Amino acid sequence: MDELFARARRRFPALQSGTVFLDGPGGTQVPQEVIDAVAAYYREANANEHGLFAFSRRSDAIIAAGREAMADLLNARSRDEIVFGANMTTLTLHLSRALARELGPGDEVVVTRLDHDANIAPWLHLQERGVTVRWLEFDPADCTLRLEGLREAVTERTRLVAVGGASNAFGTVNDLPAVIAAAHRVGALAFVDAVHYAPHRAIDVQDLDCDLLACSPYKFYGPHSGVLYGKREVLERLAPYKVRPSPGHVPDRFETGTKNYENIAGVVAAVDFLAGLGAGEGFRDYPEGRRRWLKQALAAIRDHETRLFSLMLDGLLKIKGLRLYGIADPARLNERTPTACFNLEGHSPAEVADRLGAEGIQVWDGDYYAWEAMRFLGLGERGGAVRAGLSLYNDREDVERFLDALVRIAG
Ligand SMILES: Cc1ncc(COP(=O)(O)O)c(C=O)c1O
Repeated sequence: MDELFARARRRFPALQSGTVFLDGPGGTQVPQEVIDAVAAYYREANANEHGLFAFSRRSDAIIAAGREAMADLLNARSRDEIVFGANMTTLTLHLSRALARELGPGDEVVVTRLDHDANIAPWLHLQERGVTVRWLEFDPADCTLRLEGLREAVTERTRLVAVGGASNAFGTVNDLPAVIAAAHRVGALAFVDAVHYAPHRAIDVQDLDCDLLACSPYKFYGPHSGVLYGKREVLERLAPYKVRPSPGHVPDRFETGTKNYENIAGVVAAVDFLAGLGAGEGFRDYPEGRRRWLKQALAAIRDHETRLFSLMLDGLLKIKGLRLYGIADPARLNERTPTACFNLEGHSPAEVADRLGAEGIQVWDGDYYAWEAMRFLGLGERGGAVRAGLSLYNDREDVERFLDALVRIAG
């Protein structure tokens, strides 16, 4: 197992300098396969889609391959349920504007205090249409959602429940089936922000039965881009703002303007890279389908990251003056991702990140746009907290170097 991940790490050119990169929750590094696919697009295609000439047809083929790849990763019923966009935030704002056309006074939506603002602010904008927003709170002791609040927050008037798959700040994995079932009991749509969830857990949109789900390939070893999954009937019902000559059918009508073709080529390579990891070898055209190997890869990644994170957590909890936000019980690692959020007494988050950075250990500090949550914890005005997250390419040595450096900073 360790050998599989050591081999995978060697595919990431940016990591060969010996840096310890712990900002996966902000965006992961990419393997050579992804770099090659983006470069190949410029060499071999680089033309608008839907033209009657060779380069354009290659772009058409790449978009089709991108939708297939994401349909495999998410287990969508069809590639027509996959929308590409600039990033999750842009797609979600676009979606909320389309939904706003159906909603008005008397309608309600539910958001959570735990989420990234990209899964809150787009729904707050619905207030401009007279829609009421209700909040699901979280327990500050372990940063888990107070699910009992669903009984009050979700009413006969609820039209949408927006929930995160996992918190990009504290790593909490939310009970998606419970939230989605609560939405469906009253006929509301369930929207899942899977941006922080997707790199760490296998996703099955059919099994989850969510209506809409967004994620960002740059968080799972691909290029900067966003993906929206929607059940076909939901995508067909909604009327997004668009320019008149662009296609009126789904999923294209959600994709405003020229697509980022080179990055879609990179998304295919990222999904194939993961499938290759699942199969224990480089990607080839698996006759049994790619989905099986993707599930295998995500299960192996989860094992690998959980083993490393238990070392990280153990080390963090031993550091004098360190306060960890989120689940700290080693018996509950299945309820969280390998993302640690903490502060060191007597040191600002920025100072800690800067001193770690000076030693080649790259971590984020601040609120990571988990804006509501950080304010709720009283950290908003105090520089937030330090965040260090593990990805598939991290190893034991990374964790040890990170912990040693923190011990020195703590004094
Ligand atoms: C949980 C979560 N949701 C949403 C976003 C926004 O994603 P994007 O950068 O693709 O707009 C992020 C980005 O950090 C995130 O971590």
